[in-house]
Amino acid sequence: MLLEHELAWVDEKIYWEIYENSLKYPNEFWMRHMQDISWKKSPEIAFDERSGRWLPGGISNVCYNCIDRHAEKTPDKPAIVWYGDMPGERREISFAELQRMVVRISSVLRARGVKKGDVVGLYMPMIPEAIAAMQACARMGALHLVVFAGFSAEALAYRLSVSQAKVILTVSAANRGGKRIKVLDNVEAAVVNMERPPEIINVDTLGNVELDDRIAWLSESDNLFVLYTSGSSGKPKGIIHSALPYILYVATTFKVIFDIKPNDVYFCTSDVGWITGHSYIAYAPLFFGLTTVIFSGSPTYPEADRYWDIIEREHVSIFYSAPTAIRSLQMFNRKFVERHDLSSLRILGSVGEPINRSAWQWYFDVIGGGRCPIMDTWWQTETGGIVLAPLRTLKQKPGVAGKPFFGISPKISDNGELTITSKWAGLCRAVVYECGVAGNTTEFCENIFRKNYFKDGAFLTGDGATQDANGDIKISGRLDDVINISGHRLGTAEFECAINKIDEVKESAVVAVPHDIKGQTAFAYVVSKTELLTPEAKADIAKKIVAATRCCIGAIAKPDFIAFVPDLPKTRSGKIVRHILRAIANGESYENKDVASVVNSRVLPDLQAAVHNSLHCPDMCKLK
Ligand code: WT7
Repeated sequence: MLLEHELAWVDEKIYWEIYENSLKYPNEFWMRHMQDISWKKSPEIAFDERSGRWLPGGISNVCYNCIDRHAEKTPDKPAIVWYGDMPGERREISFAELQRMVVRISSVLRARGVKKGDVVGLYMPMIPEAIAAMQACARMGALHLVVFAGFSAEALAYRLSVSQAKVILTVSAANRGGKRIKVLDNVEAAVVNMERPPEIINVDTLGNVELDDRIAWLSESDNLFVLYTSGSSGKPKGIIHSALPYILYVATTFKVIFDIKPNDVYFCTSDVGWITGHSYIAYAPLFFGLTTVIFSGSPTYPEADRYWDIIEREHVSIFYSAPTAIRSLQMFNRKFVERHDLSSLRILGSVGEPINRSAWQWYFDVIGGGRCPIMDTWWQTETGGIVLAPLRTLKQKPGVAGKPFFGISPKISDNGELTITSKWAGLCRAVVYECGVAGNTTEFCENIFRKNYFKDGAFLTGDGATQDANGDIKISGRLDDVINISGHRLGTAEFECAINKIDEVKESAVVAVPHDIKGQTAFAYVVSKTELLTPEAKADIAKKIVAATRCCIGAIAKPDFIAFVPDLPKTRSGKIVRHILRAIANGESYENKDVASVVNSRVLPDLQAAVHNSLHCPDMCKLK
């Protein structure tokens, strides 16, 4: 019998057979894959259908599986190869060295009083120490809370205080795109106004510490991390993932979907600040003892060939990137690709947003040389690991994420929303809104999660999707108030919160519009307190808006368009009618829309005119 991990190369019929079995007998399926984990105490079953528990009774540790066991068997094999801002800047960290780094950091954490279950903040660039720090937390059973280093001090402060982080790990500075970023300064600015500020630990200057190489042996109910992401509500929410069920799901999806071999060299261009950087950089590749390449520079600095140069130098065989990166590199002269030998590539991956046809074709032809299947992987921070992917190589459908992974049963609801009716081990466990992780019981956060994410027992993804006769699923994008900018999820309410803080602004509404490179961008409707504004006054407010979003969220959150309007369309109860704003910003006429619920419909022609004359931020807001 063929096993799932050989499946990348088999025919569709066999896929469906194994798939049906995985739904009918989930325990049997996951029992096979839980053997990949080195157990301190092996669970008797993988999945208890009655209680919904994964790996009951099992005892192990994620860091032990990702690092220690390989440091024993293959101590000299490179675990991480790092590239910095300049092409020659390279570090190679073996499994034995990575283990030493991890033990040193976990010893420092213990010395500062961090215990199992505590939250440890992390604000670092893409350097080996960031991965070592995450693994150090995993080793001692502390939960890491990684904040993308592109988020502002204010965004960092919010996440740290809501999660009640005990310490924050950081570094002095980072280099990116020829610029020096003072990372530590941001951390200091973040903690300065906090009621109970976490202690700052600078990983550059750890000093001497007595080494303590103990491993915390965890059970199925222990957690691995908290990671913030955006939803429809005003503030980002903390997603809590388990340790053991999560690693089972992440490892299995990685093994099957990327069809891994022991000598693969894997390069994923995400950042540890996002879920991709957690599941498929910091954990899955190390779990299998693969060499993983990380890059902390900019793909276009000093020239637009950094990815291709790294692939050639390191003989990368699996390359996992994002549509926004592909589109931005596709714009450059082909010579940047053609001067590199990319023949080591075997499999390509894409994640973060739907991949458009032209980007797909360029990725397939120019980067993959027509040889490499593209794994268009659909998933979310909440799902922990990949949920949909094309599981076979030859019949590629551009822009179609494809088949459900084993054990996943997708169902498209009447309103076109993708829901999932089965249980899978990677699904997050709990969600933290504006209450603390430590301050609330896990049970409380679990209930919030169930209340917000499920309807009639099905998990709600928030994405629209269609399914073809072959069972392949195509994702159209978010149905809720989430904007996907360069594959990063940002809530419209977060933008509005930042914009409404400006003195001259009475109220605002932000919607998503398409963008050639970023996929989507933010379009802001702004009602100012003064009715008649001169062009200079508008330009001035626009600058303040860009500065405010940068300050509250981060530089990635810049709205690209601003329209000044006299009022926003509202319902009788005062709710902003967003679908009309979305349609108008996307160039549609409100005349074909259902405007019955709008009480102040006289503003609609003004909105349309304002969108026509909206300010385009890149041309006018040259902010420092
Ligand atoms: C949202 C989740 C999963 C890691 C990165 C993003 C969109 C993600 C795809 C894809 C179409 C995709 C969805 C999803 N998305 N991958 N292959 N095709 N859309 O994680 O920040 O939690 O965002 O990203 O809209 O809901 P995230």
